[in-house]
Amino acid sequence: MENTVQNKLNAIKEGAIRDFNKAQDSTELYNFKVQYLGKSGALTEAMKLMANLPKEEKPLFGKLVNEVKAELETLYSEVENKIKNQEINAQMSHQKLDLSFSVASPAKGNEHPIFRVTNEIVSIMSRLGYSLRTGPLIEKDYYNFEALNIPPNHPARDMQDTFFVDDTHVLRTHTSPIQIHSLENEKPPLRIIGTGSVFRCDSDISHLPNFHQIEGMCVDEKVSMADLKGTISFFVKEFFGPQLQTRFRPSFFPFTEPSAEVDCSCPICKGKGTNCSLCKQTGWIEIGGCGLINPKVFEFAKVEYPKWQGFAFGFGIERMAIIKYGVDDIRHFPKNDVRFLNQF
Ligand code: PHE
Repeated sequence: MENTVQNKLNAIKEGAIRDFNKAQDSTELYNFKVQYLGKSGALTEAMKLMANLPKEEKPLFGKLVNEVKAELETLYSEVENKIKNQEINAQMSHQKLDLSFSVASPAKGNEHPIFRVTNEIVSIMSRLGYSLRTGPLIEKDYYNFEALNIPPNHPARDMQDTFFVDDTHVLRTHTSPIQIHSLENEKPPLRIIGTGSVFRCDSDISHLPNFHQIEGMCVDEKVSMADLKGTISFFVKEFFGPQLQTRFRPSFFPFTEPSAEVDCSCPICKGKGTNCSLCKQTGWIEIGGCGLINPKVFEFAKVEYPKWQGFAFGFGIERMAIIKYGVDDIRHFPKNDVRFLNQF
């Protein structure tokens, strides 16, 4: 092969090795790469010399050019790695992080007091062996009323002002339908709690059209009013602390017999009642109802009575939150004003 051509190739190679190694930073190194290996760089130019070579030398020359190219590319990436590392180290050594610098942190969210109370109730009841159930918000009339021994057109329906979805469906007015779903789908003995939203056409300082309830149901072979009182008293003490009083008042619910209402002493006036708008000057706040499950309900759900007996209770979660935290108006809960929510 003509010496001049080979010499030229060698000169390019040596020039590139020298330049790559003397590059001071990655930009300079890159410029050298373009100069030697780029589209119109020295090696591409050298390829053009091939045209003047005799036919039989062309393949050899092509091979030589490719070898030089591969060698230079390897060298380039080695030097590039070395330089990049040096640059990173240099940057890190003079760039100091001020860890004491305070930045504006984004506003933090808060667990809603209703969920906090719900979780606490669920955890207390789970210690007594109760497990959680849920049910649909839109219920068949059958589950919300009929199977709970509230027949169509019965005056007991007036106890719960109802939002009707259509002729046979309502927004559930209480969590008691969860009792029926559980009785239909599970085998006793049962200890379940159900929680969630309920709806009634009602709204004032102590009533909301959409509020939350917790339902409890125990079904076993021998269940008495004493078991019910023991369970609720334990639960109320665990939840509110020993300083709050509870009382049971005889009452009526179509799905329990006998029935009682559960009251707690008012946290605002400490049970005195003087000038207290929360407890309407009675010193007591009702938290819900309870009773022994009416045999009629077992009949609807096809559970054998008196082999199986039970008690049930249903409490308003907002009511319980009000008593626990001393909130003066139930309507604060759905407003979601962070100034209110952040206090919990
Ligand atoms: N479901 C009743 C209500 O919302 C409360 C209740 C539940 C009463 C269970 C007795 C037993 O008023």
